[in-house]
Amino acid sequence: MRKNIVAGNWKMNTTVAEGVQLAKEVNEALANEAVNCDVIVCAPATHLASIAAVINQDKLGLGAENCADHASGAYTGEVSAAMVASTGATYVILGHSERRQYYGENSAILRDKLALALANNLTPIFCIGEVLEERENGTYNEVVKTQIEEALFNLSAEDFSKIILAYEPVWAIGTGKTATADQAEDMHAHIRATIAAKYGKEVAENTSILYGGSCKPSNAAELFAKPDVDGGLIGGASLKCADFMGIVKAF
Ligand code: PGA
Repeated sequence: MRKNIVAGNWKMNTTVAEGVQLAKEVNEALANEAVNCDVIVCAPATHLASIAAVINQDKLGLGAENCADHASGAYTGEVSAAMVASTGATYVILGHSERRQYYGENSAILRDKLALALANNLTPIFCIGEVLEERENGTYNEVVKTQIEEALFNLSAEDFSKIILAYEPVWAIGTGKTATADQAEDMHAHIRATIAAKYGKEVAENTSILYGGSCKPSNAAELFAKPDVDGGLIGGASLKCADFMGIVKAF
């Protein structure tokens, strides 16, 4: 069966020392109490090896926020999937709306990144979601379906089964404006139906679909109570251990 997951996305925040401290706090909180979901932190590439050295990955998973669309070579400044894996991290966020919007990542680039992540045994946390205009003009279901079809439907069922999806309505990210639990559930059910039509009901039922966008301790329980919402991808509220753990404990 699919897992419940709460994953932090620190984005471009914290120095190495601050990030190690935050990861240690989350790790310690998880050592001291039983929780009902998998917990992951996704940190800047510079931090990963240092964090991997101080956490227990049986309790706290570690991921990158991105990886390159090439395996190796003359791509100054890029961090490959193999490099991410060599830090000890086992997850990677791909297709985040900030990468799509500010760094021109499209479905063709994301297909290459996904293939490299999977080839290096990283679990992709693949983000999809519509912008405000698409929410308002009613095309959001079609937009998200197309994002999934273009980037993921070339995968075998076996590879698709390794992926975690994150529905993040762009209008809700960092805005304090959360999708309602019903809006999230409607979209998650639509995503699961889209997967079922391609890969069958079993694969669809086993896919974890996280919600992201201004998720916080005060609204997490209502979102996570929905049958097709399997957890959250948490930006701002993942930067403080108490807030992040408040969301983890919503399960
Ligand atoms: P937010 O970000 O929780 O700060 O809205 C979520 C995300 O972008 O993953």
